Amino acid sequence: MALSDFTGPDYIDAWAADLDRRWPERAAMVDCVVRTLVEWQDERRVRNLRQAGSREKKCHAVIRLLELGIGAGGLAEAVLDALVDASGEGSPDAVEYTGIDIEPALVSHGKERLMVAGHHDAHLIQADLKDGNWICGNGPFDAVYSLQTFHDLGGVEALETVYRQTHGLLAPGGVLVNADFVVPFEKDDPERPRRLPVETHQDLLSSLGYVDFKCKLRLGKIACMAARRP
Ligand SMILES: C[S@@+](CC[C@H](N)C(=O)[O-])C[C@H]1O[C@@H](n2cnc3c(N)ncnc32)[C@H](O)[C@@H]1O
Repeated sequence: MALSDFTGPDYIDAWAADLDRRWPERAAMVDCVVRTLVEWQDERRVRNLRQAGSREKKCHAVIRLLELGIGAGGLAEAVLDALVDASGEGSPDAVEYTGIDIEPALVSHGKERLMVAGHHDAHLIQADLKDGNWICGNGPFDAVYSLQTFHDLGGVEALETVYRQTHGLLAPGGVLVNADFVVPFEKDDPERPRRLPVETHQDLLSSLGYVDFKCKLRLGKIACMAARRP
């Protein structure tokens, strides 16, 4: 059901709860996205420490995050809590967050939710990922991630476009994490598939210059996939 099918003061929470009820594998996907980003952050810290030389005891760098299709903001909160915790000494300044969604109500909701959770500097933008404008003035980012959103963009060409745009926004060494449907629904038009197999994601990402593709988790109808910009 779409957000517009819900009414009442808590309609956004009701919509988000409905997504979790219909696809219970979402909880594991949230964990997988968070874990993948934390692992990437750890690896980056080790790399930075090595580059800074053995005399440096601490090495903090800002991590610039971009989330595409933020929904009710649950994943944003989980990611920010985990990365801020793991970023050493809990410095909130170490993580910069930008989130994009097409729905103005979700953008306002996300802003408020992250504010209440203590992530005061989160930057939320209302934009359509299907037009090219959302990339203007944004980036570079160290990590871009998304959950259950890219299938909404319309098919393989739209997926390729967003993967290309993301590649352009990522800093060298940056990571892309995408969890989405990888099996078709009965109602899908077989001529215009939009829930695409893992192999299609891997082929597109490789052809665009991403490296180190990994399918981190596959459960139910969803897979969590990661790749890096060299
Ligand atoms: C199924 S929801 C998933 C939301 C959130 N990522 C989650 O998993 O809880 C898909 C999200 O993508 C957003 N979305 C769909 N099409 C979009 C577009 N063209 N541009 C930006 N956001 C879009 C929707 O508004 C919605 O928030």
